[in-house]
Formats: sequence, structure tokens, C-alpha cells
Amino acid sequence: MKYLAPGKDLFIQNRQKFIKHLKPDSVAVFNSNDIMPASADGVRPFIQQTDMFYLSGIDQEESILVICSDAKEDKYSEMLFLRETNDQIALWEGHKLTKAAATEISGIKTVFWTSEFEQIFKGLVFEAEHIYLNTNEHLRADVTVETRDARFLKRCMAAFPLHRYERLAPILQHLRAVKSLPETELIQQACNITEKAFRRLLGFIRPGVREYEIEAEIYHEFLRNRSRGPAYQSIIASGVNACVLHYVSNDQQCRDGDMILMDFGAEYANYASDVTRTVPVNGRFTPRQKAVYNAVLRVQKSAIEMLRPGNSFEEYNKEVGRLTESELIGLGLLNADEVRNQDKEKPLYKKYFMHGISHHLGLDVHDFGSKYRKFERGMVLTCEPGIYIKDEAIGIRIENDILITDSDPFDLTWNIPREADEIESLMNV
Ligand code: GLY
Ligand code: MN
Ligand code: MN
Repeated sequence: MKYLAPGKDLFIQNRQKFIKHLKPDSVAVFNSNDIMPASADGVRPFIQQTDMFYLSGIDQEESILVICSDAKEDKYSEMLFLRETNDQIALWEGHKLTKAAATEISGIKTVFWTSEFEQIFKGLVFEAEHIYLNTNEHLRADVTVETRDARFLKRCMAAFPLHRYERLAPILQHLRAVKSLPETELIQQACNITEKAFRRLLGFIRPGVREYEIEAEIYHEFLRNRSRGPAYQSIIASGVNACVLHYVSNDQQCRDGDMILMDFGAEYANYASDVTRTVPVNGRFTPRQKAVYNAVLRVQKSAIEMLRPGNSFEEYNKEVGRLTESELIGLGLLNADEVRNQDKEKPLYKKYFMHGISHHLGLDVHDFGSKYRKFERGMVLTCEPGIYIKDEAIGIRIENDILITDSDPFDLTWNIPREADEIESLMNV
């Protein structure tokens, strides 16, 4: 792995928190992600299933984690099953985890090869009442590809039909929404790598450059700082492309007088950062661009102040809507009378700001967390207001990553320049 091992204490603590949520006499199973095929014998890069990583730190394919709440023997309270390595695998694929290395990473003392799984698992199941399995219950997920967890669920339910089955997803969603200190440090590292990339870009962006050249600069900076790469597909959108919210083709030329919106974030040790900056291609905002930019920035600064324990997504969203509305009136894009008489279910500001203001951030870019749960210390949320005016080829989003604390919100992206004047001066050194 390119990243430095986070240390087993993080994963030990995560399991300690997790096991408290299991019913007595339970066995819980987590499977790695698959290695996704490309075509012929080609494969996509491996990305670990995030719950599996959260509880074990194991970042290798074909691994299984089993946790029992009332194991009859201590050695069966938590165990890993790993793909057994051999000379042939070592020759073609290189290093795979030994049992000792897996213990060092995860703090799990009992490690078997996967070939032993069926037999050992059967013994555990026959002593258990409940079987906890993992399903993808992310609201935004559209799962058409069957995961290893999903295949295992079918096999398991067919083999042991009379056990009581339980969902792991609500437990993991609850736990993962609140980050521990080591987790916030990993997100901070991801943000710091993104900062380096942004500073590099400020000296690189100029009229004539292609969006993919900017994407390449980002990738270069990420990789040389121990990131696997972007935590999600980078959006490098110049001019009117910035009004396409999930623009990822990144193949156009940046034109003098346009702005460029860049939504990009490094991953580090599987943790994501998620940052957006919008800058003038030629290094100087036009007065109109600057006016819209500063309107978005004011919304962001006020929104960040609301990321405090006890606040709710509902109130926060409403308030951000009100702020955006008033900025849009100030920019001459909305009419105050029309806003007063608008249908509350279809507020007019959504014409210019059509996406959510915040989402949880962690091992997944759109990390788990219920929209009904009040904000708590340790949650990390993005704050990403925007204004998109297609007719003017203006699309501006500013996105920072914020840690909620007992005192003021802490901006994990504080060192990534966002003031219009600072951006201009850094682009013109
Ligand atoms: N980069 C995806 C998002 O901002 O939510
Ligand atoms: Mn985001
Ligand atoms: Mn983003």
C-alpha cells in the first residue's frame, strides 16, 4: 500500500464499539469487495469494502472478517480469513498478507486461510442464534452489480434457513457517522494532499490548457503524496461545463475569460477528501464573476457556522436556502416579490442551486449518516454551496470539509485558498 499503516488501535476500537451493538449469540460476517473485471483478463484497481476496512484495516481482496458476540472459545470472538499466498501468487502479483502481518494491521489474533472458512463458519453458526450480514443501504446507491456480501447472503440464507438474520447496515451507518480522532487525522491528511494539488494548479491553469491536463496535474500530485488517487472522479469543468453537475469528461479547452470549476479530492488510507474550487482561467475574475463568487463564499461561511452539535439537516438546509435566495436577489437573478409568493415546496433558488449543501465524508465520499440524526461532535460534513447560471456560462461551487466539534466548526480544508483576492494573487506570481 502507498499509505502508511494507520495503526491497529483504530480498528481495535472500532470493533469494540461495533460489538456492543450485537445481540447475544450472534455471528457477523463482512466480505471484501470483488476485484472488478475489465475485459479479457484485465481487472480494475481493487478498492476495499469500507465496512471491512473500518473494522479490520485489511486492504486485500478475498478477505472475510467474522465477529461473534458470545464465542464459546476466545479465539473465535473475532477472526480473519485470508487468501492463502503461494510462490506462484508471489511471482505474479507480489506481496500478499501473511497471517502475522494481518494481525499486526488489524489487532485480530485469529487468522485462517479462506479454504478453512466453510468448516469453521458452520461450527460458529450452529452455536449462534443470529447471523448479521451486510447489505448496501446507502440511500444514493443504485446497486446492479452483485457484491461478494450479496452473494454470501444468498448462500448463507440457503444453507442456514432457520437462523435469525439481522442487518449490519444500520449499525455501521450509526458508528461511521461519527469519526474518532485517528479517523479525522486521516481525512486531514487526504485534505492536505488535495491542498498541495490545488496550489500546484494555481501555477498551471492558463487559457488554452485542456481540462484533462489539469486532471493529470492533480493525479500527479496525489500519487507522489501516497494517495491511491482521486477519492471520486474529478470534475474539471471550464466555462458552461461547470453547470453540468457531474461533468467528468474533462476534455475541453479552457478559454480566456471563463472560469473553471474543479471538484477533486485525494483519498488517503481509504479516507476521502472532497473539495471544490472555482478559479478564473486567466487569473483574474471579471466583476460579474467575482460578485457571484463572493455570494457563494458568503453562503458557505454562514453555512459552516451552522455545523454545530444539536443542529439538524432540516433546519440547516432551510437556512442555507434562505441565504442563497437573498444572494440571488442581490445578484439580480431572482425577484424579491416572486420569492415572497413562491411555492414553498418548489423554492425558486433551486433553479440556480440544485444540489444538496452537505453530506457526510469519510471512508466513502458520500459517507453514511442519517439525514434525521442531529449533528454531533466528530461528524465530518462537506459544505458546498453553489450558483450555476448557464446563460452566463458561470458555474461556481466552493466546497470545504468541516469537522463538527464542541466549540467552533473545524475546517479540515482551511489551508486551501478560497478568497477571490488570494486566488488571483497566487495565480499571478
Ligand atoms: N464530489 C462529489 C460531491 O461533491 O458530492
Ligand atoms: Mn461533496
Ligand atoms: Mn465534491
